[in-house]
Amino acid sequence: KKYDFGLVGLGVMGRNFILNVSDNNFTAFGHDTDQEKVDALIEEGGNAQKVNASTDLKTFVDALSVPRKIMLLVPAGKIVDIVIESLIPHLDKGDIIIDGGNSFYTDTDRRDAYLEEKGIHFFGAGVSGGAKGARKGPSIMPGGDAEAYKVVQPIFEAVSAKYKGEPCVAYMGRKSAGNYVKMVHNGIEYGLMQLTSEIYDLLKKAGGLTNEELHKTYAEWNEGRLQSFLVEITADIFTEKDDKGEGDLVDKILDKAKQKGTGKWTSQNAMDLGIPVPSIDIAVSMREISALKDERIIADELYGKPTPEAIDKAELIKLAEEALYFAYIVTYAQGLHQLTDASKEYDYGCDIAVIAKIWRAGCIIRAALLADITDAYNDNPELKNLLLAPAFVEKVTSTVDSARNLVAYAAKSGIPVPGLSNSLTYFDAYTSSRLPLNLIQAQRDYFGSHTYERLDMEGIFHTEWEAE
Ligand code: 6PG
Repeated sequence: KKYDFGLVGLGVMGRNFILNVSDNNFTAFGHDTDQEKVDALIEEGGNAQKVNASTDLKTFVDALSVPRKIMLLVPAGKIVDIVIESLIPHLDKGDIIIDGGNSFYTDTDRRDAYLEEKGIHFFGAGVSGGAKGARKGPSIMPGGDAEAYKVVQPIFEAVSAKYKGEPCVAYMGRKSAGNYVKMVHNGIEYGLMQLTSEIYDLLKKAGGLTNEELHKTYAEWNEGRLQSFLVEITADIFTEKDDKGEGDLVDKILDKAKQKGTGKWTSQNAMDLGIPVPSIDIAVSMREISALKDERIIADELYGKPTPEAIDKAELIKLAEEALYFAYIVTYAQGLHQLTDASKEYDYGCDIAVIAKIWRAGCIIRAALLADITDAYNDNPELKNLLLAPAFVEKVTSTVDSARNLVAYAAKSGIPVPGLSNSLTYFDAYTSSRLPLNLIQAQRDYFGSHTYERLDMEGIFHTEWEAE
């Protein structure tokens, strides 16, 4: 009896995903070159009829029912190509390879074209939710070959997270849509994480909240409209004791954030498309600034910081909750705007409501807000920007003043809140019917004869600006 599903790469994600597949009554076979990982999976799987694995590639491929459904959960980049090359000689026409990693979307298009020539189906599927998600139900974002996806669909629907019973997986669109959507998911993830940490900084430095109070605050927020995975785990983080010494672990962690690239790609690609995503851009920049720890220490001594102005704790917490809610909305708005335009530019055919819908559970950016976002795009599939959705006007207008107050307060107190201020600035600019960019056009025309258009008449104009 052959196995229903194959998986290459038995790291934490791969092992958990395969166990999830077998929990859902599909048989699965894993492959990894590392014998220990293979053994660990077989042991954890408990029943070799349901879950099995081998370090030998041919044994792995031969164990699978045809058309073979082989998912790769290996680090993005060169390794994906190496694994694909090693699989090709063992596969038959019609077999399906699914790349479940955070591959760059153009790599997916390249691999798709390459494998199509060989008669092998290939598509990228973003998988979000970390190790626990992979085990208990991730959000899955497949795109590309729709026929091939249909073959895998029952398995993905079974293993995915469920939101009120609905599977958090759906076909995202043509070509590399799956990886692209996951990339923007991660860009939004970067933005939300940055915002959440800025608010922590304010509450701690200005409000003097202890870790216990921080825990209580985030936990309370997680009961309300800010309910989300990131707020939930943040609340938890504040309760973790340091197992290597005294005190709380969070205070001992080096304040340098690493990154594997997906946030940066989101920003870079947004620039290429001409879509503003400043809340994501600044989140990437802040990870870069964080890396400059040695310089930051010297500069801190050189310049110092103003003492935070006195502020009432309860008032600060209220402002923080409202400002965070506002900035979360604005960050989702930017990421979804990018997806809307990318879908047109790359001919993905994405349905934003469907994307928001499968983000409601399982993934890292899951949040109560995503239910409202799904509704907004269902009400108007042509929505250009979430901020234009009638249902969001009240949510934003009732919280923006707190964002203003908090940004002003933080600026005066020397506490950096760039995610919050970029979100506010984006909002203020996006909602300005008149911006001062007429002056930029005048300057461009002045020094470079770049021409300008006018408000009051059609046409392209140029002025000889030079003073006599
Ligand atoms: C997810 C995450 C995951 C990502 C990590 C690390 O959706 O499960 O996005 O795919 O790899 O968040 O990303 P960085 O190392 O770039 O922070």
